[in-house]
Amino acid sequence: MPKDLLYSYIDAPDLPDWFSIPDVKQWLTLNEEELRRVTTENGWRMPTLPFQNDTSRQQLTYSNGSTAKTTYLFTKMLDDAHVSWAKNNISQSVKDIRFCFNLPGRSSQGPHTDLTRSYTLINVVKQGNSDQDTVFYKMKDSPIFYGLGHTISDYSMLEEIERVRIPPRTWVLLNAGVIHSVENIAQGRFTVQVSFDQLPKNIKLVKPKYA
Ligand SMILES: [Fe+2]
Repeated sequence: MPKDLLYSYIDAPDLPDWFSIPDVKQWLTLNEEELRRVTTENGWRMPTLPFQNDTSRQQLTYSNGSTAKTTYLFTKMLDDAHVSWAKNNISQSVKDIRFCFNLPGRSSQGPHTDLTRSYTLINVVKQGNSDQDTVFYKMKDSPIFYGLGHTISDYSMLEEIERVRIPPRTWVLLNAGVIHSVENIAQGRFTVQVSFDQLPKNIKLVKPKYA
């Protein structure tokens, strides 16, 4: 059986200045309503995906029995110029590129697999605290690659297999079909995310981690 890639560092150029990343320092303290207003003023649109409402309401149960609401991502899809930059500087098989910012005040983006992409290349531009972990899990009695579009609310159903603390301004490719959560993100995080339908063949993996 081939091993499943969990994540890997990628050697790719830093984001160019013309990407016009908003100054999100103030965003880190906003509540849901304020963040919705500010992102809209900056031309962001909430994704119209059907899971969005469900995800934003998702109630998590941790292994110790305590509960909390999940955070979720505000997303801005970037235009063709940004896609072209990613194709020319990362891989021709780039599908889309987006800005993402999670709702502050909630400590976990609960366990899930992504809905619209199999692999996500992430670059943490700004974070409210530096101990934010991406955690990979295996559902008991299921394969590591779990498939796209799932959310799991009960941590006790999961077995942690790996975690990575993504350094700022570093490209890290994540296998989005393996169940993963992001922990300790109550202070907010702004990322640039690049989507792929398959593992890009022409990308050089640096220190890849397999399960
Ligand atoms: Fe994800």
